[in-house]
Amino acid sequence: MARGRFLSFEGIDGSGKSTQAKLLAEKLSQLGERVVLTREPGGAAGAEEIRRLLVEGAPERWSAETEILLFTAARRDHLEQTIWPALDQGAWVICDRFADSTRVYQGATRGALRDLVDRVHDVMIDVDPDQTFVLTLAPDMALNRGLARQNLEDRFETMGLAFQERLAEGYQDLVKQFPNRCVSICAHGDQDTVATRIWTIFTQRWGDFRQVDTSHV
Ligand code: TYD
Repeated sequence: MARGRFLSFEGIDGSGKSTQAKLLAEKLSQLGERVVLTREPGGAAGAEEIRRLLVEGAPERWSAETEILLFTAARRDHLEQTIWPALDQGAWVICDRFADSTRVYQGATRGALRDLVDRVHDVMIDVDPDQTFVLTLAPDMALNRGLARQNLEDRFETMGLAFQERLAEGYQDLVKQFPNRCVSICAHGDQDTVATRIWTIFTQRWGDFRQVDTSHV
């Protein structure tokens, strides 16, 4: 069986990536594709337990270094339990955040930790998506959307606008660093408009997606 493909969505809090990941998953399912929609931190039972430690509570609860370890532990569980089995079964895996979030949130906002992020990634994860959609939205708009949701999971949103601005810059740098994998998508406009932008890029890259590809088998 052909190995599946791994897609991820990235962006600052409130950029709409979760909605867009879901819309793409629904569209591919309607076309008869096998799809696994998943998210980070989380996406497997153990990883969801670690998620609660990370997204709830006071902003200063963990240092960035400790966060790197916790996100990586959750990611490893997610890969083992969910992502690798789905890819082995030939599914499209659509993941709401993956290692790029650690590169940006932990690696580019609170000191020069990118090198540490890269080293931990290489040792414990060593996988990146086949394609990553990076949703871009003005940080003040995104923050207002994120805080408007008013749920318990706002630890990163409460780090404030300056933090969201550093994140936005971090994502711009990421797209430059991985130009073949990462594509920047304007997230302004209603959800159908943004979904059409994504579908256009998706079909440019995967237009022949119904053809069996055995190159990864
Ligand atoms: P997420 O559930 O995607 O939140 P949202 O829908 O608000 O974007 O992610 C939870 C938070 O965890 C989010 O603020 C980003 C942060 N995060 C990191 O800091 N590093 C990581 O590696 C990941 C996966 C998420």
